[in-house]
Amino acid sequence: MWEKVQQTVNFLKEQGFTNPEYAIVLGSGLGKLVDVIEIEKSIPYKEIPNFPVSTVAGHSGNLIYGTIAGKKVVVQQGRFHYYEGWDMKQVTFPIRVFKFLGVEKLIVSNASGGVNANFKVGDIMLINDHINMMPEHPLHGPNDERFGPRFVDMHDAYDKKMISIMEDVAKDENVKIHKGIYLALQGPTFETPAEYGMVRRMGADCVGMSTVPEVIVAKHMSMTCFGVSVITDLGLEGIIEAVSHEEVQKAAKSAEKTLSKLIVKFLGKL
Ligand code: HPA
Repeated sequence: MWEKVQQTVNFLKEQGFTNPEYAIVLGSGLGKLVDVIEIEKSIPYKEIPNFPVSTVAGHSGNLIYGTIAGKKVVVQQGRFHYYEGWDMKQVTFPIRVFKFLGVEKLIVSNASGGVNANFKVGDIMLINDHINMMPEHPLHGPNDERFGPRFVDMHDAYDKKMISIMEDVAKDENVKIHKGIYLALQGPTFETPAEYGMVRRMGADCVGMSTVPEVIVAKHMSMTCFGVSVITDLGLEGIIEAVSHEEVQKAAKSAEKTLSKLIVKFLGKL
């Protein structure tokens, strides 16, 4: 893994990915951010040594280097999901690469199902904690100390200062946002009514199929993390309705413009 990461990092440095300060993983709901990047370089995953290639409709696969609000960023347009068949080391490989490109701050986004009765479809939730219910752990196996320690502190996984800055930005922009706990399940099925009930009773505010592996690996390497979730459907007591990928994509799209605007202002303030 170490050698592969260094090989990919060297390739990207040769391609001009020089000293990015932030890495941004674009999930559903933040695709529009691509439009505001002053792009210097965009490379399809299939041309990057050791990168997996995404297979899900609606998830393109490009690694982008450029500037947003004066900040140098590397942007992962399309993430790797466990349900696609990748193992957790592959899912989180880009995060390892970002760290050794020099990135210290990770911004991740996703779509999720809301289980908090105060949430509506299209709402934005800042992730202030997570519950990892994925069946495989990205740090399973021998630990390579060059990446980080065997036992990783997770009590402050989502940076409070970044959350507070985004809350100020949202207030300035008159956008209502929530804060809450994201619970990760493997998918690809959406939850049954009983499973949404389990998610609620476990104390989460929303449920999705991504993000947690990436944040764990980022914390392994002492990176600062910020996560945001677009609520694309609801799993509430008594009013559980059918969920489809198309509806999720549609709801995510409707929040994209707002979320992109918030992220640009947010980066400007960081
Ligand atoms: N469950 C799991 N993942 C999701 C959901 C959901 O309801 N919505 C979007 N991603």
